[in-house]
Amino acid sequence: MLLWYSAAENTRPRFNRDAVAVPFTSGMTAWRYSRGGQAGKPMPKGKTPDDVITMPSLNTMAKERLGYPTQKPTALLERIVEASSLEGDLVLDPFCGCGTTIDAASRLNRRWVGIDISPFAIDLVKNRRLQDNRIPVHGVPVDVETARTMATNAPFEFEKWAVSRIPGIAPNSKQVGDGGVDGRGRVYEATNGHGLVLAQVKGGKFGLSQLRDFLHTIHREKAALGVYITLDKVTSRNAKAETSGAGFFQMGAKRYPKAQLWSIADHFDDREPRLPPLADPYTGNVMQKDLLTS
Ligand SMILES: C[S@@+](CC[C@H](N)C(=O)[O-])C[C@H]1O[C@@H](n2cnc3c(N)ncnc32)[C@H](O)[C@@H]1O
Repeated sequence: MLLWYSAAENTRPRFNRDAVAVPFTSGMTAWRYSRGGQAGKPMPKGKTPDDVITMPSLNTMAKERLGYPTQKPTALLERIVEASSLEGDLVLDPFCGCGTTIDAASRLNRRWVGIDISPFAIDLVKNRRLQDNRIPVHGVPVDVETARTMATNAPFEFEKWAVSRIPGIAPNSKQVGDGGVDGRGRVYEATNGHGLVLAQVKGGKFGLSQLRDFLHTIHREKAALGVYITLDKVTSRNAKAETSGAGFFQMGAKRYPKAQLWSIADHFDDREPRLPPLADPYTGNVMQKDLLTS
C-alpha cells in the first residue's frame, strides 16, 4: 500500500503523471485524441496508471538480488520516486533495508538519506548496493567499545555485523538453531567441494569450552576453515594451543590455519584473518576485499 501525502498544509502532494504514464491500450492516436474534445491540447504520453502496479517479482537469479529478505525490484521504487519527486529533491527512507529506494533515488539524481535499525542493512547499502565507502554513516561501531555496546544491546545484530567484517562471509538468516555457526563462506575455486568456511561469534566473555564446541563443528561440517570471532583479543595459551592443534588447510603451495582466533580489536587494528581468497557469497565471483570498510 502506498500512502501519498504532503508536508505543507493545503498543498497537493507531487504527482509527476508523465513520468509514470502507461501506454494507451485502446489504440488512442493523436487524431482520435483531438477529435475527443481535446483540440489544441498535446496528447499525453499515456494514461494515468491504475492503483495496482503489475511488475515481475525479483527472481532468485536476479543480478540485483542482495539476499535481503524483503528486497523489492529497483524498477518498482524508481517508478515511485519518479512519480513523487524531482531531480535534486531529498528522498528519505527511514526503514531503508537493503536500500532499494535510495538506490532508485540516487540513479534518478535525487539526494537521499537512509535510516535502518540494523547495522547489517547499512553495511549492505554502503558496501554492496552502492559500493561506495565514502558515504558518511552514523551509528555503527567505530571502535571496540562501540562494538561492545552493540554486543550488549543487540546481540544478534552484533553477530551479523561481526561476521560480515570478513569479506566473503555471510551471516545466517536464522537467529536460533544455527548449529553453532553464525556465518558461512566458501573458498574461491576450492577443489573437491572442500571449501566451506565457518565463523562463530562470541560477544561476551571468552570460554574455552565454547571454542572447543566450534572446533567440533568445523570437524562435523567437514569445513576447510573456521574463524572464531571475539570482541577482545584472546590471549589464553590454551586457546591458542586448541586452534593450532586443528592443523592446516592446504591450497596449492599455501597453507592456512584450519581454525583461528580473530577479534574485533584486530579488525580495528587492520589485521585480517589469514584466509585464502573467498567467493562472494551473493555472486560466486572472487571477493573483492576492498569492498568492505568499517
Ligand atoms: C521492508 S524493509 C525496508 C525496505 C526498504 N524500504 C527498501 O526500499 O528496500 C524494513 C526495514 O525496517 C527496518 N526497521 C525495523 N524497525 C525499525 C526501526 N524502529 N527503525 C529503523 N528501521 C527499522 C528493518 O531492519 C528492515 O530493514
